[in-house]
Amino acid sequence: MFAKKTVRDVDVQGKRVLVRVDFNVPLSDGAVIDDTRVRAALPTLRYLVDHGARVIIVSHLGRPQGKPDPQFSLRPVRRVLARLLGRNVHFIDDTVGPDAYEAVERMVEGEILMLENVRFNPGEKANDPEFARRLAGLADIYVNDAFGAVHRAHASTVGVTEYLPSVAGMLLAREVETLGSMLADPEHPFVAILGGSKVSDKFGVIDALLDHADTLIIGGGMCFTMLVAMGVEVGRSLVEPEWVEPAKKMLDKARDKGVDLLLPVDFVVAECMVEDAETTIVGRAEIPADMMGLDVGPTTTELFKGSISSARTIFWNGPMGVFEMTPFETGTREVATAVARNNRAVSVIGGGDSVAALKKFDLEERVTFVSTGGGASMKLVEGSELPGLEALADRE
Ligand code: 3PG
Repeated sequence: MFAKKTVRDVDVQGKRVLVRVDFNVPLSDGAVIDDTRVRAALPTLRYLVDHGARVIIVSHLGRPQGKPDPQFSLRPVRRVLARLLGRNVHFIDDTVGPDAYEAVERMVEGEILMLENVRFNPGEKANDPEFARRLAGLADIYVNDAFGAVHRAHASTVGVTEYLPSVAGMLLAREVETLGSMLADPEHPFVAILGGSKVSDKFGVIDALLDHADTLIIGGGMCFTMLVAMGVEVGRSLVEPEWVEPAKKMLDKARDKGVDLLLPVDFVVAECMVEDAETTIVGRAEIPADMMGLDVGPTTTELFKGSISSARTIFWNGPMGVFEMTPFETGTREVATAVARNNRAVSVIGGGDSVAALKKFDLEERVTFVSTGGGASMKLVEGSELPGLEALADRE
């Protein structure tokens, strides 16, 4: 059971409610090109509006340098939110200044006001108490629904909770419950699939999954450091030399725990990573010295698919190869398709590039749960503290 109070546990009628969402969405030419995170926030926002709250939305977008920067304005997101909600969303080019306070003063029940990017203020990332106090001063209640930012100890995720009754939104609760129960009580076999470029980014996740999964599949650039740890020569493939020793420990841990650790047995290799690269398929012990592995090969995908098809719980994070480029997309597409086809399994996709891959191959609707958190879902899986979650009120 979710251990924190949620928006349903507090009386929001007529109250000013500050809702932290994660509207850190991709933009192109000033337009939102993926509205997944906006859609994910709708249940909480609708609930608040329907229950007569005055809803003040706060979010970050991108990584501006603590000062206003038009390319990171939340204005384009306001338009998308208004369309999805089918109602007006007011916007103010301010977060904690007099304009923001005045705009809140004018709000009536059921109205929504979106503040400008909270990272336009240096106090946000510094978790500055004065900035957090000013932010809290806008409202009577704080709701955190920004699962994607819950691993950040910033003013709008942690500092603000010092000054207001603080509860979770519905998205945050659902994310934590889904990922948490996947780890605590998975139906077996539990097959975890990890990919992406660097093993250093996901070392804690490998370590944690070896405590829970029956099978751990590792593809993507990160598998080469694991292969080097096994004594395989990998040509010019991506290797993190300082992670070879830790990788050996993971190989030992998998053996000790009886986890079936599946690494690629063949690769699509090329001299360089370009869209019109000439590719060859080679066994994993035969990667030429001047080439690099950029996707897993066909024997590997068959091996991985065999495991995926018999799973009852699947967790997937990270592509198998450079799926953005046609010559190296097959491994990721095959794995994504195998995950989507297994409709007897609970399939949880851990944010980031795997979500982009699902979208590219039009499989997003065919998995059980797609997390809106990249870094946050990795932190949750590795068992690290999530400061934005910890800071919320506990359920009695
Ligand atoms: C994300 O996209 O992972 C979250 O919005 C967090 O963004 P950040 O890494 O810039 O803090």
